[in-house]
Amino acid sequence: METKGTIAALDIGTSEVKLIVGELLGGTLNVLAEGSAPSAGVKRGVIVDIDQTVNAIKQAVAEVERTLGEPIGEVYVAISGEHIQVKDCQGMTSIKGEDNEITDDDVKDVLHSAMVMRIPNELSVVDVLPKTFTVDQQTEITDPRGMIGYRLEVTGKLIIGAKTILHSIKRSIERAGLELAGYVLESLAVSRIAASIDELELGVGIVDIGHETTTLSIYEKNDLVYSTTLSYGGDHLTRDLTYKMNCKYQDAKLAKEEYGVALEALGDPEEKVSYVTINGEHRFEPQTEIGFVLEARLEEIFEMIQKRMTQAGYAQMNSGIILCGGSSSLPGIDQLGKRIFKQSVNVYQPSSLGIRHPKYAVAAGMLRYVLSRSAVSKSGFDRADEKGIAAQGREQEELLAHPSQPSVREERPQKEQPPKERKSFSSFFEKFFG
Ligand SMILES: Nc1ncnc2c1ncn2[C@@H]1O[C@H](COP(=O)(O)OP(=O)(O)OP(=O)(O)O)[C@@H](O)[C@H]1O
Ligand SMILES: [Mg+2]
Repeated sequence: METKGTIAALDIGTSEVKLIVGELLGGTLNVLAEGSAPSAGVKRGVIVDIDQTVNAIKQAVAEVERTLGEPIGEVYVAISGEHIQVKDCQGMTSIKGEDNEITDDDVKDVLHSAMVMRIPNELSVVDVLPKTFTVDQQTEITDPRGMIGYRLEVTGKLIIGAKTILHSIKRSIERAGLELAGYVLESLAVSRIAASIDELELGVGIVDIGHETTTLSIYEKNDLVYSTTLSYGGDHLTRDLTYKMNCKYQDAKLAKEEYGVALEALGDPEEKVSYVTINGEHRFEPQTEIGFVLEARLEEIFEMIQKRMTQAGYAQMNSGIILCGGSSSLPGIDQLGKRIFKQSVNVYQPSSLGIRHPKYAVAAGMLRYVLSRSAVSKSGFDRADEKGIAAQGREQEELLAHPSQPSVREERPQKEQPPKERKSFSSFFEKFFG
């Protein structure tokens, strides 16, 4: 596949692997092909079975290649979850050229030096996001190329992930016959597509409600300032329905996706889902009852998100909250969100043909993120793609003993919970940027 201006973005989700190939035409995303496949080898966003993941990726790739009529060479892949950390970083290099003019290579060198920091051996740097450069005494430079100087410095953010988890992703991609072009943080990807520059500047919360995870990302002054993931999502909604309807998972999933509403009040009591119980009885479930179950669980998830936002000091966002992810396609979820968050809540779904569903927000966001990344920023990306820039120091404790950002742990929820049952939670990650 011709990769210039056209890229492939892969989202290995817990319920579905999604693959999109697209390009940016005058700032508009043009999707050339999309494919998806049920994902059996992923639990809470992490690959637990490489073989099954490879099969799912292959299925999605085959679908995309059928549409494209040519093979896909390399893919960018989304990463998220508690293993990801974002750290401030600084780098410095001396300008090599005889005329002291800063070149692409000098930028690569300074970004490379910024990646060299002491991190535990089990972690690996996957990307570096330059914020500003300094050339000799001149600060706040966004693109130093072409300038003259002796010393080039950079400050920015490093994206670090767990080697084992990243390895499984890379291995699955390679075993599916593809090359890994780079990792993209899901939070950064969705922000590029689900929110406007003004919203990101003024402050906005983006909530991706997936299958087994819900990720909150908070942006202010165009910076990702806070991110956290809960182990709750659409899977819990479906399981709640299996209890209510006493039916198989697949039947409950179908009822949720075809007739589900996020508010009981939005349900039509005359609209009834016909299904067979686990005991073989034929029954009808009114849409209002389905709405009652879904509302209870979603309310619980939103209250957890709200609690995290409040704890982090971002209870009210100037631009409100944007919902995305497959589960946000439930009618009325924005109204429920407004009731809980007490601020404006909107659902984002990509507008490009073929991917008009909020579950494609991450993959579509990746396309925009990668394709609109500045040349300077991309050189860090390319360099990080060497993927060998990992643990540089042996003093593993240093980072753990002095984390630059606080971290909160939460307990994972039990899978089979009846609706509305409140659980204490105390084990999950939180990251602060900024
Ligand atoms: N129309 C719909 N109504 C309600 N729920 C839906 C609908 N369509 C999809 N979903 C739910 O969305 C979820 C999948 O969303 P998504 O693809 O964003 O998750 P994922 O990326 O695979 O999972 P995760 O992000 O947790 O790893 C599933 O639980 C699915 O049942
Ligand atoms: Mg997802």
